Amino acid sequence: MSYNVNARCTQTNNQAVKCNGEQIAGKAEFKALPYAYDALEPYIDKLSVEIHYSKHFQSYYNNFMAAIKSSEIESMSIKDIFKNVSKYPAAVRNNGGGYYNHMLYFENMKANGSGLPTGDLLKAINKTFGSFDEFKKQFSDAGKTRFGSGWAWLCMDNKRNLFICSSPNQDNPLMDIAERKSTPLLAMDVWEHAYYLEYQNKRTDYIDAFWNVINWDIVEKRFMNK
Ligand SMILES: [Fe+2]
Repeated sequence: MSYNVNARCTQTNNQAVKCNGEQIAGKAEFKALPYAYDALEPYIDKLSVEIHYSKHFQSYYNNFMAAIKSSEIESMSIKDIFKNVSKYPAAVRNNGGGYYNHMLYFENMKANGSGLPTGDLLKAINKTFGSFDEFKKQFSDAGKTRFGSGWAWLCMDNKRNLFICSSPNQDNPLMDIAERKSTPLLAMDVWEHAYYLEYQNKRTDYIDAFWNVINWDIVEKRFMNK
């Protein structure tokens, strides 16, 4: 299979797990959820987390692996694939995004999540948005107003400017089709499959609950690593 692109890591030893310090797509793993399915209750119920993780997320992973198998992009990093994702089949964009976005989402939640970030991230949020409450409002609004299925993001551009955006379907800010390319720091899934069992049509209630399960340590780590 050939997608006729300049794949930066096609010469990489196929046994290597990383390309330019980033995970090689073909070696991506489907890791176990780092907390119990019921750990996010009462904010996100056990069955929702279980189906979301073990069915939806797993399917995106499986379909992404199938989409890149035996192609020249199999040995590229996922981030490099996203940089040219518009050149690849829709299955790469949809399932690659689905895999990567859910990895960020489940990682940036935890039981008894803290209510506030700390340190340099909090300073940057306050500087950018005026206050944490204003950031929270704008981020929540991005999720509430995303028509149909998609994501809300806290992102950082290559000058370390923070901003909020949202993306449709399984697109993300790392992709070449993004309105403003950036690094995602905080991911919130607003597909109905993320909340419908518990909240039905009340996406706003799910978004309000989400603030109780954010793992700010992970978000701050992403912020500092850039
Ligand atoms: Fe999802």
